[in-house]
Amino acid sequence: MMEQMERHDYATCELCGLLPLAPHLNGVTHVVAHSEAMQVLLRRAGRFAHSGAPVAVVGETGTGKEVVARILHANSPRADHPFVPVNVAALPAELLESELFGHGKGAFTGATTARRGLFEAADRGTIFLDEIAEMPLSLQVKLLRVLQDGEIRRVGESRPFSVDVRIVCATHRDLAQSVREGAFREDLFYRLWVLTLEVPPLRARRDDILPLASNFLALESERLRGFTAAARDSLVAYDWPGNVRELQSAIKYAAALATGVHVDVDDLPETLTRRPLPVARMPRPASRHDLRPLADIEREHILHVLEACGGSQSAAARALGIGRNTLWRKLRTYDDLPVAVRDVP
Ligand SMILES: Nc1ncnc2c1ncn2[C@@H]1O[C@H](COP(=O)(O)OP(=O)(O)OP(=O)(O)O)[C@@H](O)[C@H]1O
Ligand SMILES: [Mg+2]
Repeated sequence: MMEQMERHDYATCELCGLLPLAPHLNGVTHVVAHSEAMQVLLRRAGRFAHSGAPVAVVGETGTGKEVVARILHANSPRADHPFVPVNVAALPAELLESELFGHGKGAFTGATTARRGLFEAADRGTIFLDEIAEMPLSLQVKLLRVLQDGEIRRVGESRPFSVDVRIVCATHRDLAQSVREGAFREDLFYRLWVLTLEVPPLRARRDDILPLASNFLALESERLRGFTAAARDSLVAYDWPGNVRELQSAIKYAAALATGVHVDVDDLPETLTRRPLPVARMPRPASRHDLRPLADIEREHILHVLEACGGSQSAAARALGIGRNTLWRKLRTYDDLPVAVRDVP
């Protein structure tokens, strides 16, 4: 149903002035942005949408960098032209070059016909260079030329031609650090890092967690009506290291497991509910007397197990999960063995 809807079926957001949609081939993503942090980000994206300058989208994995890039394109004067996403990290350098710039007939073995590249395919639209930090240095020079002159050259052809493409790139890395390490060209960095959008991690915008979860749940199931209070608490309390993508998978998982009309805490992946032992409940040393060397505690435990095994080294080694020779070596260092030891090797 969503694929059939036209862009003008949606109202622009009153707060950021954007169409809250990130169109892609299989439909549109309704972008959820309840938190103040996301509202600020989208307002900033709205101001960038009308410029043709490069935009760099940064943020942790799964935060929604591609969604932001798509929304930027969908709200730009280029919206009726292609949005072409390219994962720079997915291809080796030579292949990536001909993918991006195309190649002439006979440019290399197997190039029986000329082929246009993705820059040409994105003409008048936007190219989205994902994982830009992974771009090989040899290609960075060529990308710099596109940015400087608006010209591309197919592999194996000498004639350059002009393209009108807006470049949006993304990375989860600190690109300035890559420049310092010599892995990324400084001149290219300054060309690309003109307008920047930083997508905050989900744990820094917890107001988005439940609206996102409800949105994903509605996409997964018509039967499920929402979450129990305990499930909601778990969703909000968790830190989401994989950000929105992790939340999306957690909801898929829960929707597959839930049997009632509400997702309960038991339906959520275990990673969400497995809490670290609260610091207050951790065994703490009561006094300086308890600050004993590990070897002392090990000796005490070994002797205790040995006694419980009636002095049998083989049985004790099995119970301790160590080899019999290891146990024997340890026992040898104990000067006064209070336990009568059996089966000595
Ligand atoms: N604000 C949002 N509203 C709705 N869906 C979202 C939102 N942000 C992200 N998503 C969804 O979460 C998933 C991850 O988003 P996206 O691919 O844009 O993240 P990313 O930052 O590019 O991740 P990666 O670093 O792994 O490339 C996608 O399925 C996307 O549709
Ligand atoms: Mg991405």
